[in-house]
Amino acid sequence: MKLFLDTANLEELRAGAKWGIVDGVTTNPSLIAKEGKPIQEQIAAICDIVDGPVSAEVVSVEAKAMITEGRELAKIHKNVIVKVPLIRDGIEACSALSKEGIRVNVTLCFSPAQALLAAKAGAYFVSPFVGRLDDIGAVGMDLIRQIVAIYENYDFETQVLAASLRGSLHVVEAALAGAHIGTLPFKVLDSLFNHPLTDKGLEQFLKDYNKVFAQ
Ligand code: E4P
Repeated sequence: MKLFLDTANLEELRAGAKWGIVDGVTTNPSLIAKEGKPIQEQIAAICDIVDGPVSAEVVSVEAKAMITEGRELAKIHKNVIVKVPLIRDGIEACSALSKEGIRVNVTLCFSPAQALLAAKAGAYFVSPFVGRLDDIGAVGMDLIRQIVAIYENYDFETQVLAASLRGSLHVVEAALAGAHIGTLPFKVLDSLFNHPLTDKGLEQFLKDYNKVFAQ
């Protein structure tokens, strides 16, 4: 499973990128707004840090305007993936942009039926939101399993990008479910390293070694 960072923060992206395990980036209008810079500037800076797909979301809600905005976003860098919401106009925009060769991430997906529409519209990625479903008492991970099964049934090429992942268990379950990508906030990516037995084992190795070889 590919790991994307779900942030528009350049410091977090630099920190993640130096580990050599970050395959791409997702942003949304909330994450862009948090950084306070115009989207074109922020996305260009992100593309300079991470060499992989970088999702940049439109803020229009009408198909024609989404298409125009999507074309502009796609011009920022070859790695930009245009993100559109899973509404009727978003699906129309996805179909049009995909036909032009612009890669589209259809976001705010909360049902397998919606995911089917995204695949039919030629989406490059579909983003089902696990954590937000958990928040309302549904089992978010079931959605990942259902979408993976449906896409496999019909050999759809759309990649399942498990989004709204809130902890390491979500990441592992998404990988077990066969998601192509998981997008993680920096603190979730960082938490994947942690295991007390690793710390304990390392401490013991160094203690034993130093007992014999330390000056
Ligand atoms: C990514 O594409 C989504 O916008 C993001 O994962 C949403 O995460 P949240 O539900 O934690 O805001």
